[in-house]
Amino acid sequence: MVGVTEMTNWAVDLIDVRKTYRKTVQALRGVNVQVGRGEIFGLLGPNGAGKSTLVKIMMTVVRADHVLGTILGRPIGNRGKLARIGYLPENHRFPGYLTGAQLLDHYAALAKVPRPRRRESAPRLLERLGLSRWANMRVREYSKGMMQRLGLAQALMNDPDLLILDEPTDGVDPVGRREIRELLVEMKQSGKTVFLNSHLLSELEMVCDRVAILVGGMVARQGTLSELTEHTIEYRISFTGDASALRGDIESVGATIADGEITIAGHDSGKVNRVIDLLRSKNLQIESVEPHRFSLEDIFVETMEGTAITPEAVPVARPVGE
Ligand SMILES: Nc1ncnc2c1ncn2[C@@H]1O[C@H](COP(=O)(O)OP(=O)(O)O)[C@@H](O)[C@H]1O
Ligand SMILES: [Mg+2]
Repeated sequence: MVGVTEMTNWAVDLIDVRKTYRKTVQALRGVNVQVGRGEIFGLLGPNGAGKSTLVKIMMTVVRADHVLGTILGRPIGNRGKLARIGYLPENHRFPGYLTGAQLLDHYAALAKVPRPRRRESAPRLLERLGLSRWANMRVREYSKGMMQRLGLAQALMNDPDLLILDEPTDGVDPVGRREIRELLVEMKQSGKTVFLNSHLLSELEMVCDRVAILVGGMVARQGTLSELTEHTIEYRISFTGDASALRGDIESVGATIADGEITIAGHDSGKVNRVIDLLRSKNLQIESVEPHRFSLEDIFVETMEGTAITPEAVPVARPVGE
């Protein structure tokens, strides 16, 4: 039995997670989330979506009404596996009287990291997160960004297999955010799995292998970034001149026209060329023809609004010029 569960390829496999707070707030309504080993996984969603509740359930800080599945191949709450997880809680409050170095040692001791390992890891992680200069300063003097970086160092003290980060870039300036992204990629390269929560999309797009979009306690979308965005493309043709006489013809091709720009949903070079022929037949000047692939943020906003970005039925090769 143990052998079988250990064989799962998922680092995290959560099935039908449900949680209601105070019998009224349905924070999670049957969530399924799978994270492959060695992946950077982003759980995205607006505030109140249930992201923190889900990771608190994974860390056994909050008790689910119902949850099945495994983390690192064992049932949720397995003590041995919990010790293999590094966790950065949201809005963590560290005791202000400790210095950065003391804090790392203190938390790692609580997590039963042996003293020699703590002695070796603390300065290395402070250095890695650019905090060496502040190692002996009390954390009450730290900025929000420094606190987040210290929190990350804290989560890495046990050299975890799985890193769970709740809003890791919250309050961090753009340079610090980039450093955190680089660190996440480094973690991945060293074989760790990263599970992160965020309400910020554009920055995660760059590092996540897979994402789930959580809205109102339910997973609205889940997949690799290319799975979520590959079938959502449109062409935009901009031109100068008066195309009002062509409106009917352009719309009959299946394109829309507004403000000197024609939009053609999907990947159909035939349509693009027909529109170009129409414009040229009236001697209108074409300024540009650009493929536009929707970003994760577009998908997110669309998911939130419940309106559809027209999916393209047939997968196609990348358009020229992309
Ligand atoms: N301890 C709690 N008691 C009651 N309601 C809670 C508690 N924690 C979270 N909630 C509610 O559960 C929902 C999900 O919250 P949360 O998991 O923090 O979402 P997120 O991390 O995505 O912002 C919200 O409506 C929130 O107000
Ligand atoms: Mg949260």
